[in-house]
Amino acid sequence: MKILVINGVNLNMLGIRERNIYGDSSYAELEKYIVSCARQFGADVEVRQSNFEGEIVEMIQRAYGKADGIVINAGAYTHTSVAILDALKAVNIPTVEVHLSDINAREEFRRFSYISLYAEMTICGKGFEGYRDAIAYLVQKEKG
Ligand code: DQA
Repeated sequence: MKILVINGVNLNMLGIRERNIYGDSSYAELEKYIVSCARQFGADVEVRQSNFEGEIVEMIQRAYGKADGIVINAGAYTHTSVAILDALKAVNIPTVEVHLSDINAREEFRRFSYISLYAEMTICGKGFEGYRDAIAYLVQKEKG
């Protein structure tokens, strides 16, 4: 099974940005963690990060016919991007939305997510473990 993990805007700043919210671990550590989780579950994973909305749209479009599942943390684009929502709808690949922080327990504007309008599941507030749970869900779903 092939899983594409997409991390969006500002996630490359993990370990530097708002450490009280996002923790001390770096983006490189997150990537390593995701790769090791995928290996444990026997899935092939590609982990990508971009600060550009259009690039994220292209990653999703390119996954068409290639990926069996998508895990996406779009960062702030979660709350603004109809384009990312439309791309996910277009490729119609099972998708899990992940957020490191609990977006429902923060500012009001973070409570709305365009990604949630398509994603099968949203996992938030579990830090890195949210990615593991997302991969586990997709692998389990594929097994049927
Ligand atoms: C985030 C939550 C978003 O509201 C925020 O803009 C981010 C990170 C998270 O992982 O908790 O950049 O997606």
